[in-house]
Amino acid sequence: MSSLAGKRILLVVSGGIAAYKSLELIRRVRERGGAVRCILTEGGAQFVTPLSLAALSEDKVYSELFSLTDESEMGHIRLSREAELIVVAPASADILAKMTQGRADDLATTALLASDKPVLVAPAMNVRMWENPATQANLETLKARGVRSIGPNEGDMACGEYGFGRMAEAAEILDAIEAFFARDAPLAGRHALVTSGPTFEAIDPVRFIGNRSSGRQGHAIALALARLGARTTLVSGPTALKDPAGVETLRVETAQEMLAACEAALPCDVAVCAAAVSDWRAKEPQAQKMKKNGKTPPELVLTANPDILACLAAAGNVRPRLVVGFAAETQNIVENAQAKLAKKGCDWILANDVSEGSGTFGGEANTIHLIDGQGAETWPRMSKDDVAAKLGARIAETLNAGVETLTS
Ligand code: CTP
Repeated sequence: MSSLAGKRILLVVSGGIAAYKSLELIRRVRERGGAVRCILTEGGAQFVTPLSLAALSEDKVYSELFSLTDESEMGHIRLSREAELIVVAPASADILAKMTQGRADDLATTALLASDKPVLVAPAMNVRMWENPATQANLETLKARGVRSIGPNEGDMACGEYGFGRMAEAAEILDAIEAFFARDAPLAGRHALVTSGPTFEAIDPVRFIGNRSSGRQGHAIALALARLGARTTLVSGPTALKDPAGVETLRVETAQEMLAACEAALPCDVAVCAAAVSDWRAKEPQAQKMKKNGKTPPELVLTANPDILACLAAAGNVRPRLVVGFAAETQNIVENAQAKLAKKGCDWILANDVSEGSGTFGGEANTIHLIDGQGAETWPRMSKDDVAAKLGARIAETLNAGVETLTS
């Protein structure tokens, strides 16, 4: 699944029987993490209801140019300003003609005229209208101005005729949208693997050994990498967080399950291990709840869990090009992280100050020292989202330059 995580699309639904396919399009864009805001023309409203569009987009639907409430909440100029791509689907012969002429006599055409955002049209009309030189000339003009176009397809038409004019299918329009966003995404075509959250290791059916971890940093990194265009797999231990949109999220509980899920996700270009994996697990987890029958507490015998970061760094011919770990440290942060980098065989360590008073665990901000084989770089204290964005940008830069160290 490629990702439209965080992408904002303004969908103009104009009049045509194919408007029903736009409902499916909204669903598919949202499944991939994109946000869709709809403008419904008067003609479009003959075929689909504002309620359907609102329910699927989970947003308000805009229809009227001179609506006092819409204008006070969200001026029509902002509708297009806040979008990264405007999709006109279905694009009727009439709206194509109006776009060509630069007319602005309703909300849809006004928003289109008042915008410098990229536009994708999915024409849908009767075959004679499509073949009419007026429509063909209009589309040529629009294309010459940079408007992208998808379809129409050939086939039986709702009007009983056969030919070109059927709107492209939702899946085809989705492909065109994805291709648009992928064109210059720095991690397009890359696969990223991220671990996040704690692991829970059962002692018996009700008790477990776990680490403190909200999963916020790992989830934020997965989302940041997806936003940069990477196909992203997130392997997460138990957290209260929602699966990030546009990220393939695999939920696991134990370190062994986390390792198995990571190995199954290989190959990848970059692996970021942000999970707080429990270093140990009970050697013999009990099948039944342990009772307090005796006076002496039971002795817990532990055994070591696999080190997922070290395993990925030693994955031979499927080793990710860039393996990134975190180190939670309370003292001698840079020295300890450098030792950890060598021990685990990874390329970078993000050393995290988790000393008392740092507020890192469960908090919103992190102080990070990025360490590679050559040296250390200290980042100013910033939010976990900003750490994720900065790390994502650094990963993209490094993979695209084919360089594997910070300082070389
Ligand atoms: N890690 C892992 N699997 C483990 C333990 C840790 O993948 N079984 C990863 C973490 O996701 C993190 C890095 O290793 O990226 C460092 O983890 P940390 O807990 O800071 O270090 P430890 O290796 O546990 O060393 P120590 O407890 O001595 O600080």
